[in-house]
Amino acid sequence: MRFSSNSLLLGAVALVSAIPVQDSPRQRLLDGKPLPGKYRSKNPYTPGYRDPYDTAVDSIGKGLDPLPWRNGDGASVLGPWNRERARQNPDLVRPPSTDSGNIPNLRWSFVDSHIRIEEGGWTRQTTIHELPTSIELAGVNMRLDHGAIRELHWHKEAEWAYVLSGSVRVTALDYEGGNFIDDLSQGDLWYFPSGVPHSLQGLDPNGTEFLLIFDDGRFSEESTFILTDWFAHTPKSVISKNFHLAPEVFERVPKREKYIFQGSKPGSIEEEEPKGKNVKKSKYQFTHRMLEQEAHVTSGGKVRITDSKNFPISKTVAAAHLDMEVGSLREMHWHPDADEWSFFIRGRARVTVFAAEGTARTFDYQAGDVGIVPKNMGHFIENIGDEPLEVLEIFRADEFRDFSLFQWLGETPRRMVVDTLFADDKEAGEKFLKEIDNPVKDEITLPDIKNDEEEDDL
Ligand SMILES: *[C@@H]1O[C@H](CO)[C@@H](O)[C@H](O)[C@H]1NC(C)=O
Repeated sequence: MRFSSNSLLLGAVALVSAIPVQDSPRQRLLDGKPLPGKYRSKNPYTPGYRDPYDTAVDSIGKGLDPLPWRNGDGASVLGPWNRERARQNPDLVRPPSTDSGNIPNLRWSFVDSHIRIEEGGWTRQTTIHELPTSIELAGVNMRLDHGAIRELHWHKEAEWAYVLSGSVRVTALDYEGGNFIDDLSQGDLWYFPSGVPHSLQGLDPNGTEFLLIFDDGRFSEESTFILTDWFAHTPKSVISKNFHLAPEVFERVPKREKYIFQGSKPGSIEEEEPKGKNVKKSKYQFTHRMLEQEAHVTSGGKVRITDSKNFPISKTVAAAHLDMEVGSLREMHWHPDADEWSFFIRGRARVTVFAAEGTARTFDYQAGDVGIVPKNMGHFIENIGDEPLEVLEIFRADEFRDFSLFQWLGETPRRMVVDTLFADDKEAGEKFLKEIDNPVKDEITLPDIKNDEEEDDL
């Protein structure tokens, strides 16, 4: 050993001389153990930082620039670097040490989708074209200003929707010729089965914005059956016969589809309802007030589930709305019947998807992002931000179903659990058994964990 490094080492030893050598900060650094607060690097994206537990870092909230350093491994960045995107994806830049393998991309942000701008509104979509893992469902985010109309149309996919803001009027015709009209606002849903013709119009004062879900990832907003498109492509002589009027009546109908356009301001439902003597009202309920459902209250938030049990017409789409408190965890679970298509309404989250065969990958999400979790893959949603997290979990299924890891282990013979997980640490096994003794499904959990090593904040 050369003189200079010797004197450096002596200096370090003098600094920590009160601490036994095997537990000195230097030894802990070499062993990859967390350092006591005063020796620890404050910034988790530095070579001297150690975290064997892969704690989440809210790089946006804390104003940190994620860099590829992990427990002493890694290196700085020399080439071009998109800082904003790095901040939005801290767990891609520096994945947890538990991530492994090649799980395909499971994240998309609507802001990266092409936006179609029309008179009085706009629309953009996240389908299998934008996100190849969006196989079972496709999503559309649409805005209609006051009076703007998404014109009369139908399509082969069923349509489920959640109103994100403002208010909207929906109209439809059911399979038996009954008409349906309803006005909806934030937190309300609609569902139109395959082929059911319908329309949407933004109401007073600022119209509406909503999320549409279609039960096939290959759906495209450009491929719906639109009234004006059909008129424009049918001989006028035939339209004339169909409506028992002279063909001149139809001379000035639109020559191409209108899609989204500024309509006149709508009156009340009572004023607008068709009143002819053969008009009949639908017996079906195509809409539902999701946020008016009584919430299932968990230790870390609120859950509202809407599926064909409480919204019978919605045979192919089931959903859960989650309100997650700061620091809470949507517990480790999986869904046996369908891929999850999640939409983040508020807050910041990380999700690790476990895909068997030793593979797992972590993604970060924020408001306006879409996440996919293929069916049966284990996962959690962790609120890593400084505000509540609001998420929709949406499925191509008639009923919402999930398995809770906590509940499963609590309802499995004790000996088997300990033999499997704690054969090397019986004392830890005792603690674990005590905790799972009364298993409850706590979908959003907010545990109070005492950890002596981790009391220092960044
Ligand atoms: C409607 O939009 C205007 C202008 O953007 C805004 O000032 C107003 O607060 C909005 N009203 C509501 C009820 O959201």
